[in-house]
Amino acid sequence: MSSPLFQFEANPAPVEANERSRLLENPGFGKLFTDHMAMVRWSDDKGWHDAKVMPRGPLTLDPATAVLHYAQEIFEGLKAYRLDDGGTALFRPLENARRFRESAERMAMPLLPDDLFLGSIEALVKADRDWIPSIDGSSLYLRPFMFASEVFLGVKPASEYLYLVIASPAGNYFKGGAPAVTIWVSDHYTRAAPGGTGAAKCGGNYAASLVAQREAIAQGCDQVVFLDTAERRWIDELGGMNLFFVFDDGSMLTPPLGTILPGITRDSVLTLARDQGIAVREAPYAIDQWEADAKSGKLVETFACGTAAVVTPVGRVKSRDGEFTIGSGGPGQVTQALKARLTAIQRAQTPDPHGWVHRFG
Ligand code: PLP
Ligand code: COI
Repeated sequence: MSSPLFQFEANPAPVEANERSRLLENPGFGKLFTDHMAMVRWSDDKGWHDAKVMPRGPLTLDPATAVLHYAQEIFEGLKAYRLDDGGTALFRPLENARRFRESAERMAMPLLPDDLFLGSIEALVKADRDWIPSIDGSSLYLRPFMFASEVFLGVKPASEYLYLVIASPAGNYFKGGAPAVTIWVSDHYTRAAPGGTGAAKCGGNYAASLVAQREAIAQGCDQVVFLDTAERRWIDELGGMNLFFVFDDGSMLTPPLGTILPGITRDSVLTLARDQGIAVREAPYAIDQWEADAKSGKLVETFACGTAAVVTPVGRVKSRDGEFTIGSGGPGQVTQALKARLTAIQRAQTPDPHGWVHRFG
């Protein structure tokens, strides 16, 4: 388990094999964790140091730890897949490494080099390989994150940070593997303004989205869609996923980068659609146009995409003014085909023309 960069300290009391198998039969999302975690420290004077994979366990933090006050924290999300030939693969992990650095830059945090990002993930997955579930559609969800660990109440970029990776066996993000989800339009709360942190994957963005997400759940919806801050008109993205729209002429559209998170799934879908000759525009789309197009039949499908959600059809959209259905309200053909193509590549079941699959172990 040792890696040139990471010391390995085995968990002396790992979950027993039978119990692990039982847990992996129905992993759900985000509630089950493996035996180990990876950790690297950073300080002003030493830079990155003390890289290790160790037993997963609680952290002890001084109450004045900076992150608890000013939320200087960023994270990533990616998956490890168990392949049919017994191997293990990650999907485009260097894109996550790059985005992690971009998030760090925006939050005035130190930049983690690729070899530590990838090394931490590979070392952890190798240690906890038996935790990768094998039931259909499942994977090991990896959560790298970094936070300000300096004990200081002054408002400034911290001089000490902790970077960690935890791993969580995962099935479907949406309960019951929802055939199509319902979206609530947040007309009051927004997620990100120009110049803000919308394109960074920082915990604060999610904290700010929770009140709107709670409203969505109260309205019987699965996710909230956020609109732009200036006009409350242009569709940005969901609380934790990007959006794509499919039209009756076969073309597609997705909101442009800027205030949204630059999703790696979004980028992969753009590439796969263009590979198939589908015309895809990255352009603003208005909420009233979405409704008009859905009602006229010009818009035939909408789907959400992200690491956790993979590709999930949107069936219905609800707002304070009423609601509308997209297509038949269930999964559309283009959505299903793109999902099948993407997941086949992720699981190395089909040729990988863009070199996205990172096999190891
Ligand atoms: N948008 C938000 C707000 C997200 O949290 C995520 C999930 O990571 C995405 C989009 C999709 O990004 P990715 O495809 O890289 O997982
Ligand atoms: C992911 O897809 O990795 C995310 O971080 C989204 C979150 C809602 C789980």
